[in-house]
Amino acid sequence: SKTIKKICCIGAGYVGGPTMSVVARQCPHIEITIVDMNAERIAAWNDENLENLPVYEPGLQEIVAEARGRNLFFSTDINKAIDEADMIFISVNTPTKNYGKGKGMAADLKYIELCARQIAAVAKDDKIVVEKSTLPVRTAAALKSILDNTGNGVNFHILSNPEFLAEGTAIQDLINPDRVLIGGENEEAIAALVNIYAHWVDHSRILTTNLWSSELSKLTANAFLAQRVSSINSISALCEKTGANVDEVSKAIGMDTRIGSKFLKASVGFGGSCFQKDILNLVYIARSYGLTEVAEYWDQVILMNDYQKQRFADNIIQTLYNTVSGKKIAFLGWAFKKDTNDTRESAAIYVADYLLNEQAEITVYDPKVSAERIYADLDYLNTRSPEENRALVKVVNTPYEACGNAHAIAVLTEWDEFKSYDWKKIKDEMKKPAFVFDGRKLLNRKQLEDLDFKYYAIGE
Ligand code: NAI
Repeated sequence: SKTIKKICCIGAGYVGGPTMSVVARQCPHIEITIVDMNAERIAAWNDENLENLPVYEPGLQEIVAEARGRNLFFSTDINKAIDEADMIFISVNTPTKNYGKGKGMAADLKYIELCARQIAAVAKDDKIVVEKSTLPVRTAAALKSILDNTGNGVNFHILSNPEFLAEGTAIQDLINPDRVLIGGENEEAIAALVNIYAHWVDHSRILTTNLWSSELSKLTANAFLAQRVSSINSISALCEKTGANVDEVSKAIGMDTRIGSKFLKASVGFGGSCFQKDILNLVYIARSYGLTEVAEYWDQVILMNDYQKQRFADNIIQTLYNTVSGKKIAFLGWAFKKDTNDTRESAAIYVADYLLNEQAEITVYDPKVSAERIYADLDYLNTRSPEENRALVKVVNTPYEACGNAHAIAVLTEWDEFKSYDWKKIKDEMKKPAFVFDGRKLLNRKQLEDLDFKYYAIGE
């Protein structure tokens, strides 16, 4: 099969950046250029100070330090990178459409189509085009049509190679994946991509399928993962009413090997850029084929997640004597999970929004998320003016500043460092009674109750 010497990856985001960094590390003989139309993002990837990389992931800085400038390059010259590459990964964003038909549900494929048209316009020799982005099933047919009809008569082979990394553990997931999935029609093109992964992934873990199975498997994997979270969260509500403890229930069911123990941790709800958007997309696809029951089945996973965030905020308000107006509430964590600086669809955003509607004053501390990002997340909701958001929400640099004089603390992200704070000092500096609402079941109930905190955790 064809040996790949040069790769271009379009999209230098949370997937393109880490994924291609790992390929560059594992395959020093392949030259990889990651391109993006966002010049600021490319500049950040090229920053000499590795603290300024646009994506925070444990282990990423070391890999970029090793490969950058050797066989890994970040550039805004998209045409040049396309022209020179044998294989082109498309790793651009595919957000939920916020306009027109399918608004709020369907995937917005305009970025994907732009990529296809640009590849077609530039390519002067045969290319393998790899869908790395998560796409609706049958997108490869649209890509193929655009490439073949607007191209220069060269051959394009399309592969689907969805990414299964989880943010926060991306580097580990990429180096040691459960499986790599490659869908395609052309044997030679499939073999070329298999050979790249085979440099570090055992052949038994490299699955090849037809295009449509591969595209659909990514949406299905995210739907199943999110479903587990919503399933255990639905039981957490019942635990709070009945005296059952959701951690105990989770352990008891998870030890059944047919169920398994992973992804059964109750929480304030799942976030991240993928679960909600991919399930909405699945629901939309099912509806468009007239499969109403299928659509409604998966829609419930999202409704349960919305309910969980609302429930968490309602419990804070009720417990604080039915009013949070003018009260200071400290948020520990804003990222959608630990070990990432990504905040897209973070539960914290929605919990904050509910509490701000009740005129709470919120002070946020997150170890990796900037104040600009937090304000941008709130402004994006359009619930209130940017000025109001800045008046009601303060972002601080230490947890002690966040918690001083607060009526309550809400734990929104499971950052490890939260466990080792000086909780006695925090308690002493808070308003009494000192309430903690643990949306991640992270802290130690006994330790906090011994310090006289009023401690509430999901599902207990
Ligand atoms: P992202 O938003 O972090 O990065 C996408 C990048 O593509 C942006 O920097 C944007 O400027 C760039 N871009 C968009 N259109 C472009 C164009 N025409 N030319 C050049 N650059 C362009 O998105 P992220 O999180 O990396 O996701 C990318 C895809 O991977 C999505 O389809 C997502 O569903 C999927 N995915 C994401 C995972 C995650 O954990 N974030 C995991 C697995 C898949």
